[in-house]
Amino acid sequence: MSITLNSPLDMHLHLRDGDMLKTVAPLSSSSFAGAIIMPNLVPPVSTKEELIAYKKRIEEACDNSSFTPYMTLFFKPSYTKEFLESVKDELTAIKLYPAGITTNSEGGVSGFDVEELRPTLEAMSELEIPLCIHGETNGFVMDREAEFVSIYEKLASAFPNLTIIMEHITTKASVEALDRFDNLYATITLHHLMITLDDVAGGMLQPHLFCKPIAKRPEDREALRKVALEAHPKVMFGSDSAPHPQHAKESCGCAAGVFTAPIALQVLTELFVEHSTVKNLQAFVSDNALKIYKNIEVPKKTIRLEKKTFVVPPKYGTVVPMYASETIAYSIVE
Ligand code: DOR
Ligand code: ZN
Repeated sequence: MSITLNSPLDMHLHLRDGDMLKTVAPLSSSSFAGAIIMPNLVPPVSTKEELIAYKKRIEEACDNSSFTPYMTLFFKPSYTKEFLESVKDELTAIKLYPAGITTNSEGGVSGFDVEELRPTLEAMSELEIPLCIHGETNGFVMDREAEFVSIYEKLASAFPNLTIIMEHITTKASVEALDRFDNLYATITLHHLMITLDDVAGGMLQPHLFCKPIAKRPEDREALRKVALEAHPKVMFGSDSAPHPQHAKESCGCAAGVFTAPIALQVLTELFVEHSTVKNLQAFVSDNALKIYKNIEVPKKTIRLEKKTFVVPPKYGTVVPMYASETIAYSIVE
């Protein structure tokens, strides 16, 4: 039996730059029709010129023309309406990081004072630019996301016409917040559907599963699985595939990020088949995103998967993928 996906989308992806970009971009462009590209380069993508130049480098690195990089800027409260109007046609969303919460986010937001954020967020709302948020406080690591829910609620009610995407949700608390506000949506990663904190730190420490937000409890994973497997209309797939060189992961001071781009669709397919919900996979990996992001056009691309084992390479360039050297059940077939 083969499974056909029309124009699968990855609504949260890190492609980096330079040699790393050249290594990882083709691994996404070969299986996805497009992706929301994160702006946390060094320095972060925060001007129109930087955004256009980065998009061009991505297009050059994807040796495949039917892949659309949907570009984002790194949120700054100093963005004016005039600036946003001038860049609107080049971008798909703006990504907000709390200051210092994760890789290359030092220039992010602190405090979340609605009045300070109002001019930029109102302009985004008027211009219909979605706001993607890495929702974690700097509290206790297991509680950071749940603590951030009150900030999501404050923003969702202060800016009711702004589309707010809770990125890479990991908790039952975030899943429950989705239905309380019409303008709150979420991306869910592959790794948070597959693992819990036990897989990261319950036995020998697994650096390649260490990420932000950290994987949580079994009941959190169950809540994520429920909305993903039913393709709840407010959730969509966003891999948060975040490559780091092996030496930065297998070291004292492990960088956060799980690299899933080359195995994402295959493992999602296995998960959905196992739960007899494969009919919902198309909505989770593409259709829901097109309804949530009203401002994207997607190239037509058909990806076919079959139950055929695939031995995951131990490395792609310098990057160790999730399930490295393991055998997974589904393969992408031409
Ligand atoms: O694990 C993560 N890695 N979480 C993030 O939010 C950022 C990402 C990265 O850029 O490495
Ligand atoms: Zn990310």
